[in-house]
Amino acid sequence: MVVIRGATTIPTDTPEEIKRAVEELLEQIVSCNHLIKDEIVSIVFSSTSDIHSYYPAKAAREAGFGTCSLFSAMEPEIEGGLRLCIRVMIFVEKNIMPRHIYLRDAKVLRKDLTQIFNVAIDGPAGSGKSTVAKLLAKDYNILHLDTGAMYRACALKVLEAGVDVEDETAVVDLMRNVSIDVEFKDGAQRTLLDGEDVSEKIRLPHVSMAASSVSKHPSVRMHLAEKQREIAHKMSCVLDGRDIGTFVLPDADFKFYLTATPEVRARRRYEELRRKGIEVDFEKLKEEIVARDEQDMGRKIAPLKLADDATLVDTSDMTIEEVVSFLKNKMQEKI
Ligand code: DC
Repeated sequence: MVVIRGATTIPTDTPEEIKRAVEELLEQIVSCNHLIKDEIVSIVFSSTSDIHSYYPAKAAREAGFGTCSLFSAMEPEIEGGLRLCIRVMIFVEKNIMPRHIYLRDAKVLRKDLTQIFNVAIDGPAGSGKSTVAKLLAKDYNILHLDTGAMYRACALKVLEAGVDVEDETAVVDLMRNVSIDVEFKDGAQRTLLDGEDVSEKIRLPHVSMAASSVSKHPSVRMHLAEKQREIAHKMSCVLDGRDIGTFVLPDADFKFYLTATPEVRARRRYEELRRKGIEVDFEKLKEEIVARDEQDMGRKIAPLKLADDATLVDTSDMTIEEVVSFLKNKMQEKI
């Protein structure tokens, strides 16, 4: 049995704020610890004595945590203590290194447990960054944010609406009323376009080039980069993309740039698509990868490039395990 701790604060004592805060806290604990809800044995809340309007345990039940035992208690009033604070202790039937989550003003409570760190992994298509980022995040028990998926969701919308991907005004007009969100379920990212889970659809080959094209438009980039920063500032994560170390998080704690020859990268993508049952022509795929590299490296805003302080890793002759272990050793050297 493992115990995970957490806490958050609310701006005012209302049922809506309590429900929102409890749901946010529990969802983050679940995703950062790669839990499935059935692994939770019980959840115990305590709240400061200025919270009266709703039971956190009831809010948890309503947020879908109803299969384990739930309990709320009120804390004594301590002078100088944090106000409007909800604390939680989650008992889990799983052998993990727990990641404790302290949100909002409650971050000050346990700085020792909540040191946030970000790992930036940039590189061209097929360099292995997404697979490596996933494994690294799992090893460190932190989140993996696939930023390319957000550009892909945007491209899917543009394609479905029949808008020209090169027409910045039309793309921006369309994106004004579109919501692109990411959710983390059982440790894996799901990408939502206007609330619909498009995580599989965005992987189709025709979306790749369109994603590269829409990503050239400054307003699209600014909007998505801001969303990515918001997530990264809230919790430790590994982010993979094209501009993480140079533009999204120039202060990232660790920065890597993965690359490989176009031949190797095209081969990897080819095998990946075939495994999913998608037949593509290898030569055409290679051409498309090279064209995408040129477009991603040549754009005016936040182009794909090696950050001055990033470690360059040529993965052409390395296995995924070798790359992950290389990155972990580099990180260890810096800690
Ligand atoms: O990593 P990917 O293949 O899923 O990315 C698809 C496209 O999205 C890529 O060709 C360029 C764009 N992209 C970007 O411009 N910046 C990022 N941080 C991630 C992706």
